[in-house]
Amino acid sequence: MARGTALITGASGGIGEELAKLCAAGGYDVVLVARNRAALEALAASLSRQHGIRARALAADLADPAAPPAIFQQVRDTPIDILVNNAGFGLRGAYAETDWAVEARMIQVNVAALAHLAKLFLPPMIARRSGRILNVASTAAFVPGPFMAVYYASKAFVRSFSEALANEAAGTGVTVTVVCPGPTRTGFGEAAGATGTQIFRGPAMTASDVAREAYDAMMAGRRERIVGARNRWMMAAARLAPRAILAGITRRLNS
Ligand SMILES: NC(=O)c1ccc[n+]([C@@H]2O[C@H](COP(=O)([O-])OP(=O)(O)OC[C@H]3O[C@@H](n4cnc5c(N)ncnc54)[C@H](OP(=O)(O)O)[C@@H]3O)[C@@H](O)[C@H]2O)c1
Repeated sequence: MARGTALITGASGGIGEELAKLCAAGGYDVVLVARNRAALEALAASLSRQHGIRARALAADLADPAAPPAIFQQVRDTPIDILVNNAGFGLRGAYAETDWAVEARMIQVNVAALAHLAKLFLPPMIARRSGRILNVASTAAFVPGPFMAVYYASKAFVRSFSEALANEAAGTGVTVTVVCPGPTRTGFGEAAGATGTQIFRGPAMTASDVAREAYDAMMAGRRERIVGARNRWMMAAARLAPRAILAGITRRLNS
């Protein structure tokens, strides 16, 4: 018997794939969501074989506003005990020059789909008086992000939104956790066109180390976890600095 079911977005690679592995190893059935159906099916097969849980691949493009309700419909017969809102991407470039179509999709995936999935899955969790939501933000949530302006702002939304939901959910049996990883070795940097920047040429964590801290924070019902000692130290310093100075530092790091 599984402990319940975890639905993980962005499970086709990187941090989301590692979170899916931890949920499966923890005895949860998993529903794996992303666009890359082949990658999801391969992971589902390997997780069910390895852990004896049920794993389902659910291909969806979260840039489509119709995706969250379609996903909710497709799992309507399965109570979702854990919702992991992990899917996301970035784009590097001066805002005057970047492509609005990509940024509009980013806001839909990083912000609107995350909020919509929480809107759909939170009420049944509250009704059952049990559930966990894990939202993946970033250390980008703490600072303005010149040359990745929309991405940093999207993560500030995720952090603020999650803290508010955690407060609203207090006493309901449902916990909401936001995790803030720093640079992590995944497909993210390349997808964002950011591999050449100082940030991505500097120290980075592995996706499995990030996922382990995130999973433990969620299972402990923590409200927020900045992932990695170095990132915790840097964000403590960032809290003390004026925002204009922080924007200048981020500008250099994203150049
Ligand atoms: N890597 C870092 O340095 C870093 C740092 C802080 C926070 N984060 C955050 O961590 C999360 C995971 O990123 P990652 O580093 O693991 O990057 P990744 O390896 O590029 O994985 C991103 C995941 O999101 C999915 N995704 C992207 N667009 C999607 C869409 N339109 N619809 C559905 N799924 C979509 C991708 O799947 P498909 O391509 O198959 O759709 C993939 O599974 C993101 O929210 C990211 O912002 C990353």
